[in-house]
Order: sequence, then C-alpha cells, then structure tokens
Amino acid sequence: MSTYLSGIQPSGMQHLGNYFGAIRGHIEAQERGGEHFYFIADYHALTTSRDPSALRERVRETAVTYLALGLDPERATLFRHSDVPEVCEITWLLSCVTGMGLLERAHSFKDKKARGIQATVGLFTYPVLMAADILAYESDRVPVGKDQLQHVEMAQDMAGYFNNAYGEVFVRPEPLLPDEGRFARVVGLDGEKMSKSHENGVWIFESGKPLAKRIGRIVTDSRAPSEPKDPEALLPFRFLELFLDADELEDWRARVRDGGEGAPGYGHMKARIIEVIEETFAPARARREQLLADPGEVDRILARGAEKARAIAVGVRDRALAACGLRSPSS
Ligand code: ADP
Ligand code: TRP
Repeated sequence: MSTYLSGIQPSGMQHLGNYFGAIRGHIEAQERGGEHFYFIADYHALTTSRDPSALRERVRETAVTYLALGLDPERATLFRHSDVPEVCEITWLLSCVTGMGLLERAHSFKDKKARGIQATVGLFTYPVLMAADILAYESDRVPVGKDQLQHVEMAQDMAGYFNNAYGEVFVRPEPLLPDEGRFARVVGLDGEKMSKSHENGVWIFESGKPLAKRIGRIVTDSRAPSEPKDPEALLPFRFLELFLDADELEDWRARVRDGGEGAPGYGHMKARIIEVIEETFAPARARREQLLADPGEVDRILARGAEKARAIAVGVRDRALAACGLRSPSS
C-alpha cells in the first residue's frame, strides 16, 4: 500500500490555476487506496514571510479551502507542518550527511535569490527540510508540480546518503508528476499563466458582482461575433474549456469557428463562464462559510491530523537517532 504525501504552501486565497493544477488532484486522490497526507507548509513559509498575523490567516484559509472543496479528513490526513516538530530534528540529521554542493545546485534557491528574496540560511537549506517532510512519514509517493521535482530528487539523494552511512532507515520516495494536459497551465485574465504574483487570477470562491467584474477583465479583441475565429486562440474559450463537458464545449467551439448569425460574442462567453463558476463552486462556497463560522472545527481537524502524522514521524525520528548513535539501538 502506498503512502502519498504532499506539502501545500499556505498562500491563502487560491485561484483556479491552483484548483485545476493541484488541489483537485489532491482531493480526488483520496478516492484511491493508500494513505494520504497533506500538510500546510508553515515552517516553509517562514523562508519568505515576516508577518505573523497574515501567516496565521493564510494557514487557516488554506485549510478551509481544502476542506470546503471536499478533502475528507477521515480519508486524507490534513495537518500543519509545525505541529510535527520532529521534522526539524530529522532535518538536522540529514543536513549532517548532505554536501553543500547538492543545495548549491537547487534551481528554486537560485530563482528566489534572483527575484530579490533575501538569501537566508533557511531559504538555502529549505530542500533539507522538504526532504525531512517527505521521509518523516515514510511516504513513497510524492505528488508535486514540475517545479518541485528537483527537491524530491534531492530527498532521494539525502535518504541514500543517510542509509549508506547508517543502514536502512528512510524509505526512498518517488515523485508523482501531474498529467500534462489543459489543466497543467491554466491561463489568467491576461493570457499569461495564472499566478498570485501576476494578479491575473480568479479566486475559487469569488461570486456575484466581484466575480462578474473579474471575468469582465478577461482580455478580448474588437472582432465582431459573426467573424469566424480560432476558438483555442480566444481567452474566454480557454476558461470555458476548464469547466464545460465535451458536448457543450464542442457546440461553443463549432459556433465560434463557423462565425455568422449564430456565433456567440465575447459577452455571451463571459456570461457562461460566470454561470459555470457560480454553479461549480456553490457547494464549496457554502461549506467554506460554515467552516469560517466554526474555527474550532478546523482546529480539531488539524489537531487530529497532526496526532496521526506525528505518531509516524516520532517512530522514524527515533529510528534515525538510534541509527546514528544518539540513542541506544533498543530505546
Ligand atoms: P502561484 O503561482 O499562484 O503562487 P503556487 O506556486 O503557490 O501558485 O502553486 C501552488 C500549486 O498550484 C502548484 O502545485 C502549482 O503547480 C499549481 N499551479 C499554480 N498556478 C497554476 C496554473 N496557472 N495552472 C496550473 N497549475 C497551477
Ligand atoms: N516546496 C513545496 C512547494 O513549494 C511544498 C512542500 C513542502 C512539499 N514540503 C513538501 C511538497 C513535501 C511535497 C512534499 O510547493
């Protein structure tokens, strides 16, 4: 039986790109067999955040988002990174068998430094923490986006360094990349990849007037509806593609391509986008409101998750301590 584990950055309000590219897959995975662990990577967030109340808020919003969208805490364990402090102990043990050269090759560190993020020791050694996250729960499958692949490979390397030095303690993890497809790169209102940093996103739970206003910002041109067009080259069509079933999508595609009398204008397409977003996420919006009104419920779910995850991490930590001589083998 496989154990799946993934860390989720506490970025707070998540957009449609996050939903189709990551969250939906995480939630659907609970239908399959195996153990599923998801944690909100708040230790990780300290590499870039200096605002305590914003961080607390983003952690809660992230938990609420997953629960509202259907993560079932009975089938998938959701917890907070910092509720399992054993990962920090394992981080130290791994950092003592890992050469600096490995970390110096990390793309993500180099990118962040180039973007002006302060190159703290935490940012530099972050891949060691991520390796500890993965190895602490004996996970053998790690669903990640392509940008995180190198970090999972580093976790494989670090498990190998430790096991070679001290015997088999850590399970070798394998990355699980999402299928490439239309959900791998959801485009934003401006046609660039949807991203929080580009301010071109549509928040999953937006509705009513703010949603209508935002969808109104999807970039279009001034061609008349009757002019035949390549549907795939139209931004509103790219949004429809995310939501509509094959038959309805084909109908829009044909009408856009053929042009003429029955062809839809951009306004029609945008109206359908708004409608389908409202419909798709209506149950999740209601569930989110309930969860926000009952913070104790979210706290209880995270505490139960942490208890389960921590029991595993304590066992792994103890074995690792014993293996490297910090405890006697029997303790
Ligand atoms: P952002 O760029 O908005 O800050 P993150 O880098 O925090 O998003 O990504 C969180 C998860 O969402 C990752 O698994 C990432 O692959 C996925 N993701 C982010 N943006 C998109 C997008 N536009 N299309 C598909 N997946 C996305
Ligand atoms: N580094 C990942 C990201 O930026 C989040 C993360 C932390 C993670 N620990 C992990 C992902 C362990 C998978 C496994 O998105």
